Amino acid sequence: MTQTLAFAAITQTLAADSAGIADAARLLRAGSLVAFGTETVYGLGADATNARAVAQVFAAKGRPHFNPLICHYPDADAAFVQVEASDLARRLAAAFWPGPLSLVLPRRADCPVALLAGAGLPTLAVRVPAHPTALALLRAVGRPVAAPSANRSGQVSPTTARHVLEGLAGRIAAVLDSGVCRVGVESTVLDLCGDRPCLLRPGGATVEAIEALIGPIARGIAVAEAARIVHAEAEAPRSPGLGVSHYAPDAPVRLNADVVRSDEALLAFGRPLEGSGALFQLSATCDLTEAAANLFVGLRRLDTDVARQGLTGIAVMPLPGHDLGLAINDRLRRAAAPRV
Ligand code: TXA
Ligand code: MG
Repeated sequence: MTQTLAFAAITQTLAADSAGIADAARLLRAGSLVAFGTETVYGLGADATNARAVAQVFAAKGRPHFNPLICHYPDADAAFVQVEASDLARRLAAAFWPGPLSLVLPRRADCPVALLAGAGLPTLAVRVPAHPTALALLRAVGRPVAAPSANRSGQVSPTTARHVLEGLAGRIAAVLDSGVCRVGVESTVLDLCGDRPCLLRPGGATVEAIEALIGPIARGIAVAEAARIVHAEAEAPRSPGLGVSHYAPDAPVRLNADVVRSDEALLAFGRPLEGSGALFQLSATCDLTEAAANLFVGLRRLDTDVARQGLTGIAVMPLPGHDLGLAINDRLRRAAAPRV
């Protein structure tokens, strides 16, 4: 039997008040998709225990099924009845939750999360977001909420409700509008299933802060990237949608610019290079926290400028790689990667 995944025709915008949160929770419990703000980016939420709802997340985003989703909980206790938490996991949770850190841990045997949410893996990424509306929603739903970033797969992640609608209007039931995301880059993904903690994705919780608590961590690659490499090797030449390209605006992106042309838009950090055709300032004072919060807005804004003004692409000034600079540079590298 083939199952059709019908999209909601109209996407409601819900206010982040008690009525809006109650409506959002009701929709999620009924198996519909609701985007909601977190401190990092907007997530595209689904009841993680409902395989059909989870399947709709992949369909709405156009996301490859081998890329697992993060499950969101209102507190660590709720998470740790579904995954096996080591002492290390509990220490990290005590220090960073609520906050922008996702922990990859083994599923418990009775974990109710749909296997599809974890792409069939024996592990699950879990996190407790630091956003009052998100936490109120998670408490009201009373079930784990699987939520990837609320953008079409491969595109720039959303940090406002309007960004969500630009990509997903008509494909999801509602967006809970909780304003602008404070951190602006996704959570750090840390795998705790191996011998040593392993960084799978740099993000809002810095490596410096994590290592200050638990000592040195290994560097790895995200499961989706590993799967892409396997697919790319197996399906030569490369299959569409399997490249490292991600977080990508339509315009070509050129990194580490030390000069800029008048037919280029400039993503500036610190004193801007002169002569660009359009400008977005990530942080005039070279503040990496401010730059992270502005990153995805800047990429979207300049993408529009490039299209409207007939420019050739986006030039990006160099940013340091420490603290939030690690996550910012990771996203920029993906935005600049060859499109496949
Ligand atoms: O800040 C965030 O993390 C946002 C908000 C909405 O919480 N969510 C988000 O989700 O960025 P998404 O789906 O765009 O990214 C999830 C990342 C992917 O790199 C995925 O491969 C990795 O987490 N991941 C999820 N489950 C995993 C698992 N079991 N093992 C390894 N990596 C996993
Ligand atoms: Mg994403």
